[in-house]
Amino acid sequence: MTYNVLVIGSGGREHAIVDALKRSESVGRIYCAPGNAGIDTAATPVSIPVTDINDLARFATDASVSLTVVGPEVPLAAGIVDEFRKRGLRIFGPTKAAAQIESSKAFAKELMARHNIPTAASRTFDDFDEALKYVLAGPERSVIKYDGLAAGKGVVVAQSHEEAEAALRNMLLDDEFGKGRVVVEEFLDGPEFSFMCLVNGPKVYPLAIARDHKRAFDNDRGPNTGGMGAYSPVPFVTDEIRQTALDTIMLPVAKAMADEGNPFTGVLYGGLILNNGVPKVIEFNARFGDPETEVVLPRMQSDIYKVFEAVLDGKDFDIEWSPETRLGIVLAADGYPGSYPKGLPLGGLEQTEGKVFHMGTRMDGDRLVSAGGRVLMVTDSGATLSEARAKALKDAKAVAENSQGLFYRSDIGAAESRNEL
Ligand code: AMP
Ligand code: GLY
Repeated sequence: MTYNVLVIGSGGREHAIVDALKRSESVGRIYCAPGNAGIDTAATPVSIPVTDINDLARFATDASVSLTVVGPEVPLAAGIVDEFRKRGLRIFGPTKAAAQIESSKAFAKELMARHNIPTAASRTFDDFDEALKYVLAGPERSVIKYDGLAAGKGVVVAQSHEEAEAALRNMLLDDEFGKGRVVVEEFLDGPEFSFMCLVNGPKVYPLAIARDHKRAFDNDRGPNTGGMGAYSPVPFVTDEIRQTALDTIMLPVAKAMADEGNPFTGVLYGGLILNNGVPKVIEFNARFGDPETEVVLPRMQSDIYKVFEAVLDGKDFDIEWSPETRLGIVLAADGYPGSYPKGLPLGGLEQTEGKVFHMGTRMDGDRLVSAGGRVLMVTDSGATLSEARAKALKDAKAVAENSQGLFYRSDIGAAESRNEL
């Protein structure tokens, strides 16, 4: 018996989910809405936008879809899970209320405060003068976060009071962000890591740890992006640190949400920082990370469909992982995360050794072209981090040399493979 699955999204994360589902013996047809040029070679494309929830639900019913897996945050925050459940359709993701852990920074901060989850001290403001007074009374360095979905661009790590004031002005007085609320946070120092867990109410099924590189350019310079590369596992996150993160952050948050009558189902993504040896929360996401998923799921040896089923049924399940390291490098369009051209011709994919995930691509006749800021991600495996890194660099170079207008970071995993964080 095999089951049809619908994956929602069009990026590298969804390509990696489709790729993992393809390895499952339980899966029949895989549909992806709307998909991209790479996904479309592995799944049946469905041209329904991710926000057309009613059309997606109708499609899932008509195509006898047994399970829907949601990639991006926007349909989750819009209530896709609530609608599918109302119609008796199985879907992997949080309700609109539970997705607030990502869509509202204030919600996440207040939940953590109520339950003593380790995180940066913070205050929420909607008034510019009050926010400025608070910032000026604090240390020079602070972090200003827009309270809402801002595609990774609503965070300013201010190095001075002046920078903080400019960010507050931008978010609370100017039109760009819609004059919302901001969270002002204590700056935490330390290396970051991503801890994704599959969750059903109080039950938590941890996935392998990954590390993302969020800045656009080498040596963590340039603007914040959605992520320019990742690797898994992460040597500095020892078993002990991982266990502490599970015991002090992931398990208590899942329990707190269930206890408060707002249980979380789906992927709870902890963006964590190791601050003076203590794991603390930088942010939560209510979905698989992108690009972390592209290096984590290829390491999953268990049948992912069975894993999703076990989680939704609340059954115990130990997920098996390959011990290899997988490292991925994102190739982005020149200009990203600012404005960038689309329709760039892409090539060199056949010269790569590893798995290439498509992040933003489409076919233009029989030519593969770019359709987004993050375009492709090359991922490679190795017995060590440096071996995986050397292969991925070779693959990234082959793609960049045979494509137009792409750039990539050459230092993904570099510091840690030299053992210096
Ligand atoms: P976020 O969107 O909340 O993940 O923030 C984006 C990036 O800003 C994070 O990956 C961190 O590198 C940085 N950042 C956010 N909050 C803090 C903090 N409290 N201390 C230091 N860096 C932070
Ligand atoms: N890579 C960070 C994120 O998915 O939000």
